[in-house]
Amino acid sequence: MSTKVLISRIFPEIGERLLKEAGFEVTAWDKDRPMTQSELVESAQKHDAIFCTLTDKIDKDFFNACPSIKLVSQFAVGFDNIDVMKATEMKIPVGYTPDALSEATADVAFGLMITAARKMFFLHKDILKGNWGYFRPNAHLGLELKNKTLGIVGLGRIGYKMAERCKGAYKMQILYHNRSRNEQAETELGAELVDFDRLLAESDVVSVHCALTTETKELFNREVFKKMKPTSIFVNTARGLVHNEKDLIEALENKTIWGAGLDVTNPEPMKPDNPLLQMDSVAVLPHIGSSTIEARSEMARMAATNIIEYFKNGKVPFIVNPEVLNG
Ligand code: DGY
Repeated sequence: MSTKVLISRIFPEIGERLLKEAGFEVTAWDKDRPMTQSELVESAQKHDAIFCTLTDKIDKDFFNACPSIKLVSQFAVGFDNIDVMKATEMKIPVGYTPDALSEATADVAFGLMITAARKMFFLHKDILKGNWGYFRPNAHLGLELKNKTLGIVGLGRIGYKMAERCKGAYKMQILYHNRSRNEQAETELGAELVDFDRLLAESDVVSVHCALTTETKELFNREVFKKMKPTSIFVNTARGLVHNEKDLIEALENKTIWGAGLDVTNPEPMKPDNPLLQMDSVAVLPHIGSSTIEARSEMARMAATNIIEYFKNGKVPFIVNPEVLNG
């Protein structure tokens, strides 16, 4: 009997093609929206593996309701939508797609930083409203980034690429806050590991690249924004839940901080009447960090490879919980 894989969204075609070429029986959701939870569970019950992404809730109830599932293959580097502890307890490997999207996401973080610093999205909207007017020597003043300080919260693969861009383009000094040292960043970029408060106090741009965990949930709140410079820019391309959005709005309204660049919001999707969308030094994108042809197709290839390798050879090349296979 062939192994059955449920593909929960419309992904780059390489994923489905590789699975079919390898002899898997594939059911692919063909609507341009996530499956509802009952659609997801009902369908997953008839499959051996699920190829899913961050909009799918793969929680305890999912695992209990879908005993046939032997592998979860996530199309994303983040996996906060999956109860990995429960998967591990049930000896179910969880695959993911690290590094495929590092360059693409760092580009978005870097772009949002400049866009917020120069009020670009706001001014674009102003032209559409017919407000160009005259060249005004004292209007729309932004901030320069040359020789400023970048503070990275969570300097892993994506944070490193953001730091590299900021160092190369603007000779920025790099501070970082991590659980562990990143020796490569220290040697190659002169990055300095500092405590969280020092990073907040000294950074001109604070860029978030950490995973969403119980420790990082709403880490950026009113108290934390108060510790940042009034001229600083907050950039979040990780997960919206890492900041408290009401507190962020308040910090920007009160000029506690200067600007923000967000590829992720809390909640998602952001409502069109969110005050952040009207602020001059704020730039918001709809969670498109990994959205390049190259990154998304590599993510689909990796997610399919995880499934193929597991069922053919008992290996998951890109795995979140390796203890399941080692134990
Ligand atoms: C991820 O991979 O976690 C991004 O948020 C989506 O690609």
